[in-house]
Amino acid sequence: MGRIGGMSLLKIARMGHPVLIGRAEPVPDPGAAEIRRLAADMIETMRDAGGVGLAAPQVHLPLRMFVFHLPRARAADAEPIAPMVVINPEIVPLDEQIELGWEGCLSIPGLRAVVPRHANIVYRGVDLEGAPIEVSASGYHGRIVQHETDHLDGVLYPMRVTDFRLFGFDDELARRQPPLAEEE
Ligand code: NI
Repeated sequence: MGRIGGMSLLKIARMGHPVLIGRAEPVPDPGAAEIRRLAADMIETMRDAGGVGLAAPQVHLPLRMFVFHLPRARAADAEPIAPMVVINPEIVPLDEQIELGWEGCLSIPGLRAVVPRHANIVYRGVDLEGAPIEVSASGYHGRIVQHETDHLDGVLYPMRVTDFRLFGFDDELARRQPPLAEEE
């Protein structure tokens, strides 16, 4: 894989590949130059694929890190979030409240489902400088972070689906009458 500056699009693993169901290893040196390059490539790959998050195992690297963003078009009434890199994340639910919402995954193209997630969390990790991150998140922001952190433990969203009537192909779901509620 030659690289003279610039960024690269990475190949995305699809469901069925073993890298998606293993437990990823902590990133030993979050400040390393190759981690910075990987993060930049993951952000480029996420944007190119039209996703809101991408975890390292999805690009065939079993490391505990992910990137995500919340573009204005997907933010609904929430604040947009510029692309962020979270390394060695941990999630703590803030209460017992569970919310249902639609999710898709770049490793499971063409499908989506309603998935239960904690409504309110704090997530911690480190950034590319090795500096601590601690963020409270709810709604779609918290959902993305829970989905991406699941990838680091080999958990894909279909494993969390509780009502399989709300699991289907995007284009079929879009045709449903009355229309299905969108993600919050
Ligand atoms: Ni995913």
